[in-house]
Amino acid sequence: MDKLLIHGGARLDGETTVSGAKNAALPILCAALLSAEPVTLTNVPQLQDIATLLRLLGQMGVAVERDADRVTLDASKLDNPLAPYEMVKTMRASILVLGPLMARVGEARVSLPGGCAIGARPVDQHLKGLQAMGAKVAVEHGYIHATVAGGLRGARLFTDMVTVTGTENLMMAACLAKGETVIENAAREPEVVDLANCLVAMGARISGAGTDVIRIHGVERLHGAEHRIMPDRIETGTYLCAAAATGGSIRLTGTSTAYIDAVVDKLLDAGCDIDSERDAIRLTAPARLSAVSIRTAPYPAFPTDMQAQFMAINCVAEGTAVIRETIFENRFMHAVELQRLGAEIRIDGNTAVVTGVDRLEGASVMATDLRASAGLIIAGLVADGETLVDRIYHLDRGYEKLGEKLSQLGARVSRVR
Ligand code: EPZ
Repeated sequence: MDKLLIHGGARLDGETTVSGAKNAALPILCAALLSAEPVTLTNVPQLQDIATLLRLLGQMGVAVERDADRVTLDASKLDNPLAPYEMVKTMRASILVLGPLMARVGEARVSLPGGCAIGARPVDQHLKGLQAMGAKVAVEHGYIHATVAGGLRGARLFTDMVTVTGTENLMMAACLAKGETVIENAAREPEVVDLANCLVAMGARISGAGTDVIRIHGVERLHGAEHRIMPDRIETGTYLCAAAATGGSIRLTGTSTAYIDAVVDKLLDAGCDIDSERDAIRLTAPARLSAVSIRTAPYPAFPTDMQAQFMAINCVAEGTAVIRETIFENRFMHAVELQRLGAEIRIDGNTAVVTGVDRLEGASVMATDLRASAGLIIAGLVADGETLVDRIYHLDRGYEKLGEKLSQLGARVSRVR
């Protein structure tokens, strides 16, 4: 199993490119199931999760062509609306095939995505919405078996909480439903908007994406299209935090500060200078950051996927920070690993109090989930001596060419078996 060896202490000082957004590419790849014509996507990140989903789509009968960041999907011969446990258990976002399959073929058999390290992650809102659109949904032997005779019908949907993939699944299902669907309390994340933009390019009739009320007028069929995946705002924020923690000065291309205002505001509060160009961001950090408190919440508030990274930078900042996690019930696993590096963190329910220390000590730590791993990397970059991060397959799921990009930014990292 690969590990990442980090020699701490180097100021990050360099330039690298941000890849396409994992959490936009995943639903958009599934959207190709809605059409019998080819859909071509560019700026698709080369990640483990993307490879897993392409394998799943291939098993369903979708023809997949891939050339670096360019992927063409042809679902004209879709013939097996099944997402088996073996694949879903490694990648929960497989649940995103449910809505498109119900819209296109009126049937889907999808393994219930188990929970994961950060929480139970139920999908009850996805199922409730499909039932409101006329689907019959049975959950048996760990599988969701959904069917609808005569096609889905438009409905007025209200999700009990803001759910990103729930909104995405129901928006895709509604594209081919009869009549109008309104999704209230919809997720406003930029990845939902990127998906809507791709669906509209395929001929869908959608308005309100990016607000909490999305209207979809069903159409007979969707045609092929070409779409470029938006930049990954979480990868962007992660590298900005790495530079901030090390007192560095970096430039990121292929991205912008759009969609990460809440993260940029907190980095400015911490003492960083940030210049945003049309297609790049430059950050210069102070010698030592000031502690910044955060509270995660649905977009446009501070993203939960940046919480671990900010816990890491607060470990070495001046002062005390309070971190409130309001989205997932168990997203502080990185805290105990950071404490192994000498961090002073006190956890009380969904609140973590971080008191900045002058120095962290390198140690062996273990990654538990994608974003927790990123937090450990950031801490390792500033810790004295060597930090060895185990189970970095979590990182490979969400950060393309992580080692190379960190090296381009001046970090001293290497992968070891
Ligand atoms: C998406 O997960 C992202 N994944 C997550 O990123 C991200 O952390 C999360 O949104 C929140 O922003 C993808 O987009 C592939 P939710 P998702 O449904 O859609 C509860 C990463 O690191 N809920 O918005 O699964 C749920 O338990 C990943 O890239 C229900 O109770 O999250 C959670 O507490 C991690 N029932 C809250 O709502 C449901 O039916 C928000 O979950 C659905 C959700």
